[in-house]
Amino acid sequence: MATLHPVDRAADRRSGVPAIATQGLTKDYGSVLALDSLDVTVGTGVTGLVGANGAGKSTLIKILLGLLDPTAGSAQVLGHDIATEGAEIRARVGYMPEHECLPPDVSASDFVVHMAQMSGLPHAAARERAADVLRHVGLAEERYRPMGGYSTGMKQRAKLAQALAHDPRLVLLDEPTNGLDPASRDDMLELVRRIGHDFGIAVLVTSHLLGELERVSDHVVVLDGGRLLRASATTDFLDTTGTLLVEVLGGATERDLLGRALHDAGFPSRPRGNVVAVEPPAPGDTRNVHDMIRDTAVDLGLGLVRIQPDHHRIEDIFREEVAGAVQPH
Ligand SMILES: Nc1ncnc2c1ncn2[C@@H]1O[C@H](COP(=O)(O)OP(=O)(O)OP(=O)(O)O)[C@@H](O)[C@H]1O
Ligand SMILES: [Mg+2]
Repeated sequence: MATLHPVDRAADRRSGVPAIATQGLTKDYGSVLALDSLDVTVGTGVTGLVGANGAGKSTLIKILLGLLDPTAGSAQVLGHDIATEGAEIRARVGYMPEHECLPPDVSASDFVVHMAQMSGLPHAAARERAADVLRHVGLAEERYRPMGGYSTGMKQRAKLAQALAHDPRLVLLDEPTNGLDPASRDDMLELVRRIGHDFGIAVLVTSHLLGELERVSDHVVVLDGGRLLRASATTDFLDTTGTLLVEVLGGATERDLLGRALHDAGFPSRPRGNVVAVEPPAPGDTRNVHDMIRDTAVDLGLGLVRIQPDHHRIEDIFREEVAGAVQPH
């Protein structure tokens, strides 16, 4: 993407400050404590902010943008204090709101040009920038049509384009996959991944579906009832389960031949898709499961393609941790 905005991105990047940092951030709406003394740090790359409905995701984003005041605590965005440097923050941060915000009678092209001009770009540069971002989000063809006639997928893309209009250093994407069918959801997630990885823009993306964020996020922050449940690298969520997934040449016959042989040898095995999932040996069984698999395949005359560790899915871990958090200990 062309860098058109006067913000010195190189200076921002050199400084090494976190994209977002909060200290004791609290939001009390009166009837609901939406954020409860939240301490969290978000770096570069793509960070998934996950949590059930009402966990406080949108409240956090609105406070970071200066759209809401916190009840207590402090926060910095790209090193700028939310209490005193709102203008600096908004110049460097793009926001894709959760709810629909598009004027129905305006075309995506006019809307994104307008948003780019609002952030200080001259008209010609704004037009160029709008054409660029609309092409990136896949709205090149339809960009002159009024947005009222857009499908949900097209509206989400237009919302994403306006968030990118001023070449931000950080984008806050609130539920970008909301309302999308599985194919459009995948396309949107791929766009989110590209924004973070190919364009070097820090991304905070929310979802209540944890499974979809594990594919695109470098880090995951889990909120539960306004509190931080967990924050870690996505790979740390994906601890190995101990199960091995084994693929052999051929089809279901070969797969099942190996699975049955391993099962008979005392390694509980089940077919899973085109692979065999092999459980670790029982406690006290000192046999090496890797050697066992290799020897069994050789004995059966099967071509071994790969043996790889199975991983937990974020969703499973989240369910376990939430269950753990609400159970009396
Ligand atoms: N303006 C408001 N006034 C009172 N309560 C509010 C207000 N906005 C949000 N809340 C409450 O604060 C809590 C957190 O809401 P928030 O919208 O931040 O959650 P969320 O994680 O974004 O949820 P969702 O996944 O449904 O978008 C909820 O209990 C919500 O009902
Ligand atoms: Mg929300």
